[in-house]
Amino acid sequence: MAFRCSNCGYRSVKWLGRCPNCGEWDTFVAEEESTPETQTGASGTWIGEALRPINEIDLAEVKRLSTGIGEVDRILGGGIVPGAVILFGGEPGIGKSTLLLQIAEKIAGQYGVVLYVSGEESAAQIKLRASRLGVNNPQLFVLAEQTLSRITRAVEQVSPHVLIVDSIQTTLSEAAPGEAGSVRQLREVSAALTQLTKARGLATFLVGHTTKEGGFAGPKTVEHLVDVAIYLEGSRGEEMRILRSVKNRFGGTNEVAVFQMGKQGLREITDPSRFFLSDDERENPRPGTAIVPILEGTRPILVELEALVAPTGGYGAPQRRTTGLDYNRILLLLAVIEKRLGINTGGADVYLSIAGGLETRERAADIGVIAAIVSSLRNRPLPTGYVLVGEVGLTGEVRGVRRLRERVNEAEKLGYTHAVIPAGAALRTKIELIPVKTVEDAMTALQLT
Ligand code: TYD
Ligand code: MG
Repeated sequence: MAFRCSNCGYRSVKWLGRCPNCGEWDTFVAEEESTPETQTGASGTWIGEALRPINEIDLAEVKRLSTGIGEVDRILGGGIVPGAVILFGGEPGIGKSTLLLQIAEKIAGQYGVVLYVSGEESAAQIKLRASRLGVNNPQLFVLAEQTLSRITRAVEQVSPHVLIVDSIQTTLSEAAPGEAGSVRQLREVSAALTQLTKARGLATFLVGHTTKEGGFAGPKTVEHLVDVAIYLEGSRGEEMRILRSVKNRFGGTNEVAVFQMGKQGLREITDPSRFFLSDDERENPRPGTAIVPILEGTRPILVELEALVAPTGGYGAPQRRTTGLDYNRILLLLAVIEKRLGINTGGADVYLSIAGGLETRERAADIGVIAAIVSSLRNRPLPTGYVLVGEVGLTGEVRGVRRLRERVNEAEKLGYTHAVIPAGAALRTKIELIPVKTVEDAMTALQLT
């Protein structure tokens, strides 16, 4: 008999409490034990559908349920597919329970019974949150429960269209060893709920807590078991939240939706650029700011880059700080500024951020970063109504970016009048295009030389 770590696959001839390979606790299972993926239901059929030729399957059978929130539907690929298991991940306190309760209310109002199970809060606590959100639909059933068999029984009792399990980390299967939240339990619980979901044709949201460090057995462990995996991101201090799909068997991935956390829960932002920028920022640019269209998924969003360059006080080493941008990229761009523009920032602190809490690793923001830094250094704003887009190479050349047209269109839509873009692109727009070959060209066009 051999044992295998259910987290990383490491094998051992004897059972171990802690995996020497991945460091997880309580993950070893005997090898002949079936893994959750290969388990079949009591009837022997997993989904319970009849054998039939593909041309006899009617696509109209797939009727997606709307969550009642357009942006959530979009992220799911057009709504919830019955039979789908949707992993809903995010850090504690980010707003998962809040958004799901809002969705639950809307689905209950439109389609009927929804069951919301919480292993983290009492029914009274859920009610408290619900009343703040104005959630009060009699078709929405609430259960404070951690035990899988009782959750299953509740599903049989009320036959919900949608089941929400908040969270998989607090749900315990009596059929498996280990504590709730252990890798073994996460898989067992997810597999059992998947089976229940497919067999009954409902749709299930599994809430999974992640941590920034990712140091414990989190939702990633069960991502391969589910049909759809979406994550809610953002920082707790900021109001902005981003919902991102990373896996979707029924639609595209890499899409994002923007939400704002307020007193009435999460509100969808259908026009993110307008949310991140004010008219005033367009009309009266401040020194050290530059507007760049970045891509979130396939969607362009205009964001404001902010740079602050100030002489380093005393004898300390100059600081380079950045929020929302790649630190090493900034160092590289500072080197380009020094070498190509002849501007020395060695005696200055440089701070960079994206207003509103967004993050990007897009190189298309390079030319905007350089413009923001130089603008702060010269204490001179960029001309009114300008956006900038282009990757910058080591020798200072400005390179093309993907989806330039969409980015420029977004800028035009928001009333910007000029776009500094990489030379060589053929675009027809109302906005005035300023093609540049090098960072020097760009600085000249921006009157920053
Ligand atoms: P919650 O949904 O409990 O997070 P999660 O389930 O991901 O752990 O969200 C908790 C935070 O959201 C909490 O700090 C309070 C805040 N919040 C609002 O700002 N507005 C609201 O309407 C609600 C219900 C919560
Ligand atoms: Mg919660």
